[in-house]
Amino acid sequence: MMRSILVTLPFLSGLAVAVAFLFNWSAALDRRAPVYLQRRFVNSTELDACKAISAANVKVVYPLDLTYYSLIEHYMTTSTQQSTCVAVPASPADVSATIKIIGSKRIRYAVRGAGHASNQGFSSTPGVHISMNNFQQVNLSGDKSTVDVGPANIWDNVYQGLEGTGVAVVGGRVSGVGVGGFITGGGGYSYKTNQYGLTGDTLVSADMVLPDGTITTASASQNPDLFWAIRGGGNKFGIITNFKLKTVPQGQVYGGLRTYTADQVEAVVNATLEFSENSKDPKASLLPTFNFLLGQPGVIALAFYDDPNPPADAFRQFDAATGPHAFTNDWKQRTILDLVKSAPSDVQSGQRGVFHTVSLQKYSKGLLDLIVSESKYYGGQGILHSASLISYDVEPFLPYSQFAKDAAWPHSTNALPLNLYFAWNNPADDAFWQKAIKDSAAKITALAKSEGQNLDDKYLYPNYAAAFTPSSQIYGPNLGRLSALKKQYDPQGVTDLTTYFPF
Ligand SMILES: Cc1cc2nc3c(=O)[nH]c(=O)nc-3n(C[C@H](O)[C@H](O)[C@H](O)COP(=O)(O)OP(=O)(O)OC[C@H]3O[C@@H](n4cnc5c(N)ncnc54)[C@H](O)[C@@H]3O)c2cc1C
Ligand SMILES: *[C@@H]1O[C@H](CO)[C@@H](O)[C@H](O)[C@H]1NC(C)=O
Ligand SMILES: *[C@@H]1O[C@H](CO)[C@@H](O)[C@H](O)[C@H]1NC(C)=O
Ligand SMILES: *[C@@H]1O[C@H](CO)[C@@H](O)[C@H](O)[C@H]1NC(C)=O
Repeated sequence: MMRSILVTLPFLSGLAVAVAFLFNWSAALDRRAPVYLQRRFVNSTELDACKAISAANVKVVYPLDLTYYSLIEHYMTTSTQQSTCVAVPASPADVSATIKIIGSKRIRYAVRGAGHASNQGFSSTPGVHISMNNFQQVNLSGDKSTVDVGPANIWDNVYQGLEGTGVAVVGGRVSGVGVGGFITGGGGYSYKTNQYGLTGDTLVSADMVLPDGTITTASASQNPDLFWAIRGGGNKFGIITNFKLKTVPQGQVYGGLRTYTADQVEAVVNATLEFSENSKDPKASLLPTFNFLLGQPGVIALAFYDDPNPPADAFRQFDAATGPHAFTNDWKQRTILDLVKSAPSDVQSGQRGVFHTVSLQKYSKGLLDLIVSESKYYGGQGILHSASLISYDVEPFLPYSQFAKDAAWPHSTNALPLNLYFAWNNPADDAFWQKAIKDSAAKITALAKSEGQNLDDKYLYPNYAAAFTPSSQIYGPNLGRLSALKKQYDPQGVTDLTTYFPF
């Protein structure tokens, strides 16, 4: 997804001003005060566990350490909690020692990959925070067919590690997003999904530490149940220390970011609809985000073509001669790393936030018009409720079910995800925005159904779903098997001490 503040500045003239604004905004974020030094009661049970972990020769970091905040912080501040300490394991054996102590003492804990979870508690805790920061390997196999990737990598690092090798992975689309949650949270959705499915569909195996401390590997042939469960089951089956991903060929690409101002929104709606209905080229991927920020609606359109020279008609709907006129235009030939980095999502970090989602059969004119009117409506409310961003990411993929492997998150019905993202600043507005995002998703769902869409087998993507989402809407027919497997692999209920969608 794209989070930028470049878009809706029609009152400013020119890219230079927008870029200057962007720069100042980033600088302001860097100056934000650390909030972690709030005094808090120290839980002596947890403190004892921290000491036991340290005595087992695992690195432990406490709140006064200079690195503490960087280890617990999240993209959204609402996803960050102050933990009693941070365990920073350096090997699978360290992870095993840590989880054994946590399990036997029954300590609240969380596992963080790169901290992009939108739900509080999923990778944050007041107890023992387990940071996977030491697991950032990007290790290509000799024959270049697979790559070992550590869970705390951001996708930028993975693309960077593979630069110049002629291969890449089916990975993230914007800067800063982590590997660990992307795969365990059901996905993920990539620019290459039209060609290869979700990232989880390209997973060959995962090395992991079970809730009882056992170090093992899951693949289609070894522990196949576990392999099924970790692709959507979140943090409930253990802690993954390495993902082996299938590589895909990668040369230069074409694409990047365009922004459109309020007067172009209707033309972008038309172009998006036309692309969604008529593009048949699996190398072409489009990710338009309908936004409301700084008092104006606007659109950011990310495009990707898996070749430096797309056919002339690949994105014909967006030709300025007949389609919308961009305010800024950065679609060009580049590396995939450069393209991912060109979507400066980190600019929107450091605010309170919530994600939610709708899974659609298709995007229609009525739905896109509703999305625009919802963004304006909640944008208007934003002034009273400290909002900094209202955004709706439209994800018009081609059918990808032919690549879908059976996994805990059911994704063989070509559901098209819509990601709603609201960001704000005042904690007093948390309840308002949680309700707003629920209402807005419900309204969009109702319209899709009234247009005749069958959403019964379209499950909500865990990485986009708000914490209040009933698990049945996420896992559908797989809920029973997930629950049985959790009992089998975690009979002591160790993972009940961390948070995810319940099953
Ligand atoms: C700006 C932005 C852009 C995004 N873009 C995309 C996109 O293009 N496509 C897409 O599909 N999704 C996207 N997402 C959603 C993204 O997939 C999720 O936020 C994902 O959870 C991020 O993973 P993480 O490792 O950074 O998160 P974390 O917060 O570190 O972890 C998320 C969850 O995964 C668990 N987890 C992490 N590491 C491990 C591990 N090693 N073992 C076991 N459990 C683990 C955590 O416990 C937690 O429950 C985006 C999110 C943001 C904020
Ligand atoms: C102290 O920590 C334990 C273990 O994590 C937890 O169960 C308990 O609720 C905590 N107590 C308080 C008062 O927070
Ligand atoms: C990378 O792979 C090589 C050989 O396959 C192995 O010796 C090395 O330990 C690996 N490095 C990491 C960090 O996994
Ligand atoms: C968008 O499409 C509608 C038809 O569905 C048309 O009436 C309208 O003029 C178009 N708007 C723009 C700006 O192209």
